[in-house]
Amino acid sequence: MLEKLLRKKTLEMDSSISDRLTKVKNGDIPSHVAIIMDGNGRWAKQRSLPRFAGHHEGMKTVRKITRIANDIGISVLTLYAFSTENWKRPKMEIDFLMKLPGEFLTTYLPELIEQNVKVEMIGNTDGLPVHTKEAISRAMHETAQNDGLILNFAMNYGSRLEIVETVKEIARLAIANEIAIEDIDDALIDAHLMTAHLPEPDLLIRTSGEVRLSNFMLWQLAYSEFSFTEVLWPDFDEACMLNAIEEYQMRNRRFGNVEGDKGS
Ligand code: FPP
Repeated sequence: MLEKLLRKKTLEMDSSISDRLTKVKNGDIPSHVAIIMDGNGRWAKQRSLPRFAGHHEGMKTVRKITRIANDIGISVLTLYAFSTENWKRPKMEIDFLMKLPGEFLTTYLPELIEQNVKVEMIGNTDGLPVHTKEAISRAMHETAQNDGLILNFAMNYGSRLEIVETVKEIARLAIANEIAIEDIDDALIDAHLMTAHLPEPDLLIRTSGEVRLSNFMLWQLAYSEFSFTEVLWPDFDEACMLNAIEEYQMRNRRFGNVEGDKGS
């Protein structure tokens, strides 16, 4: 009896998700959604579990959110998986976090391929352990021909470092007389960022109640809408993702223009 009730509840939940999904798909869908996945440690602590258990559960959320992002019709999903500042964490935790891309991609790569997902990465690969680099590059290689959702992992990524590298590259071009100082504009800077081939994020989501950017896509988020939720990343589910998209669809994006005109 209890089992029947529980099954009924699950089915009800599923149909409410699918109804909301249909409505969301009829609205303005953000092309690029970027997420700061935060709260794994607190999720584990609440359950008296070690921090890595929270990260492991967070990995399962990545699977769930990739799937719904694809269903919604989002083009790019960028996930902040490891920052240039995360090297300050205990070695054991870093080692665990570095193994997650391998575990995730070994387990879910067939599913990602079936869903036409293309795996990409931004960040400094040089600092990553060989096994992490290999797992990501294998997934990138095996999904290179896919033209569905781009699942973009930000690994060993820091926005200031990215901007510093961009400035250096543009300075080199100027010194070599390949560009004039007058050529330096927004578009040129965009073209030298790690995200050069991607649209700017329309929506940034951060979980766990923290309200800051933590060195994430500082240039690219200039005109993005922000959605902050108290929900911890391992608990962030399809309904939470739909909440964020519905919230986004109610926003009036003006890009510095006046009310009622979306600008360009
Ligand atoms: C921040 O939460 C989270 C991270 C630094 C790691 C995020 C990684 C995942 C969600 C898994 C990634 C999966 C793949 C496939 C790469 P926190 O540990 O700072 O949480 P806390 O603030 O509650 O301590």
